Amino acid sequence: MELRDAVVIVTGGASGIGRALAEAFAARGARGVVVADLDGEWAERVAARIGGLGVRCDVGDPAQIRALVDVAVATYGPVDVFCSNAGYSDPAPGGLDGSPDDYRRITDVNLLAHVWAAQAVVPSMLERGGGYLLQTISSAALITGPSAPGYTLTKHGALGYAEWLALNYGERGLRVSCLCPNAVYTGMFGRPMDSDGSDAPPPNGPLGEVLLPEDVAAQVLAAMEGDEPFLITPHERVRESFRRKAEDYDGWIVRTRARLARMRAQAPIEMPPSTVTTEPVT
Ligand SMILES: NC(=O)c1ccc[n+]([C@@H]2O[C@H](COP(=O)([O-])OP(=O)(O)OC[C@H]3O[C@@H](n4cnc5c(N)ncnc54)[C@H](O)[C@@H]3O)[C@@H](O)[C@H]2O)c1
Repeated sequence: MELRDAVVIVTGGASGIGRALAEAFAARGARGVVVADLDGEWAERVAARIGGLGVRCDVGDPAQIRALVDVAVATYGPVDVFCSNAGYSDPAPGGLDGSPDDYRRITDVNLLAHVWAAQAVVPSMLERGGGYLLQTISSAALITGPSAPGYTLTKHGALGYAEWLALNYGERGLRVSCLCPNAVYTGMFGRPMDSDGSDAPPPNGPLGEVLLPEDVAAQVLAAMEGDEPFLITPHERVRESFRRKAEDYDGWIVRTRARLARMRAQAPIEMPPSTVTTEPVT
């Protein structure tokens, strides 16, 4: 993928991985970078820093995704790269009690947003001979771990939808990559919105190695400009665990159950509260 002169949309671009991606695309010479986020003020701040366009958008609403694509096209021209990155986690470890509204909301944001984005950009990408969808998913889609149930189910669904897109449109020029990291030091892990990028990630905890979003973004751009792989796993051990799971699914369930019990006994896994509201924007 040639990123110089590309028109790129990044959702969840006000913070964390999305912000690092937006900054990296701009630094690579993208013609237009649209920073979309539920937090419109921070989307505009990030966009102003990189010479892009900030847009307030709730990705859980298909009409707002269509409007986002329309404004991107009107400002910069047809979209070459759509990074469907926005997402949040329900509190881990969670239980069986989530309300219907909780489950509907996380499904709208973490899963269906990928569908609305594809509906909004893929037809025009195919007409122009190709385009790129970068789906920020999670290692939780490959190797279920201590994540909460809503997060787990939506990330698994997002991976399945990305496979479906790659299988059905890959031959017509659509490229699809799924970014599946483990722990990354972002708002999800309490990183302040106004971080200038110089702060170190917290020491590795029960979730293992914690990467900086800037390093993850650099890996993503290298992959997009290189082999364009379907799966991007910045933490090496994720791919290894995924391989072992595929080789022996039942053994993996037994081993992981025991590992989670040990982790919970040592230190309860608490996902820091997300820095964002998860209420829909109406
Ligand atoms: N941080 C990690 O360890 C980690 C690991 C695996 C996957 N991920 C995934 O990475 C993606 C980015 O998360 P992050 O870690 O950078 O967290 P973050 O909280 O720093 O950034 C998420 C951004 O998404 C925005 N957002 C949330 N709901 C939205 C909505 N409905 N519409 C538009 N924007 C919305 C937030 O305002 C925020 O700016 C998420 O999909 C997350 O699931 C994160």
